Amino acid sequence: MDETRYPDSLPQHVAIIMDGNGRWAQQRHRPRLFGHKAGADSVREAVETAREVGIRHLTLYAFSTENWQRPGLEVKGLMGLLKNYLQSELDNMKNNGIRLACFGQKDRLPDEVRGMLDQVIAETKLCSKLRLNLCLSYGSRAEMIGAMQEISRKCVSGELNPEEIDDQLFSDHLYSTGQPDPDLLIRTSGEQRLSNFLLWQLSYAELYFTDVPWPDFRRDQFLAALEEYAGRQRRFGKTGAQAEAACVSS
Ligand code: FPP
Repeated sequence: MDETRYPDSLPQHVAIIMDGNGRWAQQRHRPRLFGHKAGADSVREAVETAREVGIRHLTLYAFSTENWQRPGLEVKGLMGLLKNYLQSELDNMKNNGIRLACFGQKDRLPDEVRGMLDQVIAETKLCSKLRLNLCLSYGSRAEMIGAMQEISRKCVSGELNPEEIDDQLFSDHLYSTGQPDPDLLIRTSGEQRLSNFLLWQLSYAELYFTDVPWPDFRRDQFLAALEEYAGRQRRFGKTGAQAEAACVSS
């Protein structure tokens, strides 16, 4: 994709459901962890591509609350890969302006992963080129219930009036507070579902599904998704003509 051709059509925020590592490995008669390792390389390439083309926010679904139910060996392997990824990418993130955040139940992660996460988050907090949000032990319903509990507590204590609850206030109680909603959701490997991912934040996102499994989703595939996004008309509930007029006047 020629980035200069679509200066206004680049999504600010891309969210990705990285699916298909296991099947990719099975097709090669290799253990599932082999697929996750290749998937970690695709993560590196996706982050690099996002930074290079000027995407400002990238949110990756790396481990869901449901993924804890996978075989212990696979969970352990994934946690090891995460730790390695964080260790090996810290300098690269600092040098390239990448600020890390974690969306999810950080306290459920093994100590050494949580420690590494905290270190990378702290050391990249002044980076401002790309926000990289890793979803770890993440589930959207749990996130929204947590937000509702906090808002309810504020109402009970009198800090908040129920009439003050609106879209913005609710968004401000989610992990993604302060960041724009995703413009584009990509899901790899042929499945077409949301799997409890960013259900509030994806309300107006464009959806892009590809049969390519995550380990094969590299720069060219990412650029193809951006190219398709650039050709979509986002209407936000308006008519096509209204949306076009809004585009021209902005
Ligand atoms: C889904 O594929 C993928 C996951 C549950 C894990 C994603 C992990 C990575 C991409 C690598 C490690 C992450 C980082 C950030 C370094 P699946 O295993 O469900 O595939 P399947 O549907 O083919 O079984």
